[in-house]
Amino acid sequence: VERDETLILNSLTYPVYIGNSLWKPLGDFIKPYFTSGGVYILTDHNTHKSCFPVIAVNIEALAGVPVFSIIPGEQSKETSSVEMIWNWLMEEGAGKNSLLINLGGGVVSDLGGFAAATYKRGMPFINLPTSLIGQADAAIGGKTGINFSGIKNQAGVFANPEAVFINPGFLGTLPADHIRSGFAEIIKSAILSGNSFWDHVRNTSPYLDGALNDMIINSVEFKISVVASDPYENSFRKVLNFGHTIGHAIEALYNRNGMPGLFHGDAVAAGMVCEAFISNEVAGLSKMEFNDIVAVITKHFQIKTVDDQNVEELLLMMGHDKKRIGNDFSFSLINAIGNPVFDVKVDKQVIFNSFRYINQIKKL
Ligand SMILES: NC(=O)c1ccc[n+]([C@@H]2O[C@H](COP(=O)([O-])OP(=O)(O)OC[C@H]3O[C@@H](n4cnc5c(N)ncnc54)[C@H](O)[C@@H]3O)[C@@H](O)[C@H]2O)c1
Repeated sequence: VERDETLILNSLTYPVYIGNSLWKPLGDFIKPYFTSGGVYILTDHNTHKSCFPVIAVNIEALAGVPVFSIIPGEQSKETSSVEMIWNWLMEEGAGKNSLLINLGGGVVSDLGGFAAATYKRGMPFINLPTSLIGQADAAIGGKTGINFSGIKNQAGVFANPEAVFINPGFLGTLPADHIRSGFAEIIKSAILSGNSFWDHVRNTSPYLDGALNDMIINSVEFKISVVASDPYENSFRKVLNFGHTIGHAIEALYNRNGMPGLFHGDAVAAGMVCEAFISNEVAGLSKMEFNDIVAVITKHFQIKTVDDQNVEELLLMMGHDKKRIGNDFSFSLINAIGNPVFDVKVDKQVIFNSFRYINQIKKL
């Protein structure tokens, strides 16, 4: 797919456009809403500064619409932000036939999608993802929500956007740490999808000009295929949790202990190494593919360590994820690259050994 080509993926109930010149289809898409109930834009302070001017210049009609901007970052994915957005929509007179445009990363699409889905029992929204995590993952699939009581994504609903417009050009202003963080999710998709996607990811740097475009398309196509087969995560969609059972616990542990500098993707990278290790122990992943996965991840990420004293706390956090069944934990693993499996029971000791494994990588 060429840079300027618009790819329309339609296997979900809503279209997903990808390309660097989406202004025409986007302009056409939003046009009816100006007469039906008005158009509203949600940003955070960074995307307001870096991305809003780009859309305002390219789609004249958007230059004057009401914009609400949240504080950037995960801490905004909370109840008070939802209330602020509802208040703003009410003050502006938004109704059931208005349109909310989520212009930002995964925080803006998770929060904005949730606020829209619950405002007056649901107003239409579209996602214009601007971060790599947003473009490769979060903007698609219908999961919206906020954190509550210290637990990630504790409150939320499945709600589909009317459409998703992915313009990789927005990544030009995304800080490098966030590119790296998003690349972890792309590596995950490639491991689960296998074949040429995996070959591409293992042989290409995300920092090469244009390299991300194909990877985003591959990730989006893969996610759509999984989500279309099981939209509400009753079964196969669980495979997308690969690396995240342990990754989320590591993320929560580092954040709780106030250790700075951990990005979501760094935690997922460590989680994927652990879960590849577990896959090799209990799910039939070959040693050769396991080594291949570890080589690709460690090429891009410094793997975090887990101190022995934190292991019990980590297991407790994984319990919060409702993945614990008695003394066993339930994991999404792989029995080969491109061959994910889900609901695999794993004994505590194997998880413990996987922490031992990542701790010694650091020392190599
Ligand atoms: N719903 C889902 O299926 C799903 C999937 C994966 C992740 N998520 C959620 O997504 C969130 C993480 O996403 P994220 O990393 O995009 O977080 P984010 O929205 O906080 O964006 C990361 C940072 O990049 C900035 N930013 C975004 N686009 C920019 C641009 N073009 N130029 C300059 N700065 C820009 C943001 O202001 C923020 O500071 C988490 O809350 C996670 O739970 C949801």
